[in-house]
Amino acid sequence: MTGKLTKMLAVVGLSAAFAAPAFAADGQVLYETKGCAACHGADGNTPTAPIYPKLVGQPVQYLVTQMTDIKSGARNNGMTAVMKPIMANVSEAEIAVLAQWLSEKGE
Ligand code: HEC
Repeated sequence: MTGKLTKMLAVVGLSAAFAAPAFAADGQVLYETKGCAACHGADGNTPTAPIYPKLVGQPVQYLVTQMTDIKSGARNNGMTAVMKPIMANVSEAEIAVLAQWLSEKGE
């Protein structure tokens, strides 16, 4: 039992250590590891449902605002609820990196 618990704590510790430098990772890595592709497509521009948005090439500030508002609950229209739990696991710094990457992909 104790051994199992120690193992679990070790895993939690490892993932915390892994998550810490995430803001240094580039947008593509974040996009893949945070699970965005499941809904917005591997390239951010091929949504997996007709009602999901394409993300590429929009202004950085717009993307930051939308992700921030979905995370906080300020944006709460039609399909926002499916994305909100994902954003609980995305920090402000990571939002900035993702927005920059998605915006530049369209240039
Ligand atoms: C479970 C499906 C799902 C996942 C996973 C998901 N999203 Fe979304 N996302 C949506 C939906 C649905 C919307 C549109 C919500 C609405 O109808 O208002 C959306 C909206 C957005 C918007 C706003 C687009 C616009 O034009 O207003 C951005 C930006 C965005 N997502 C980025 C991301 C990023 C980055 C990730 C990964 C961290 C992610 N999403 C993960 C489903 C998802």
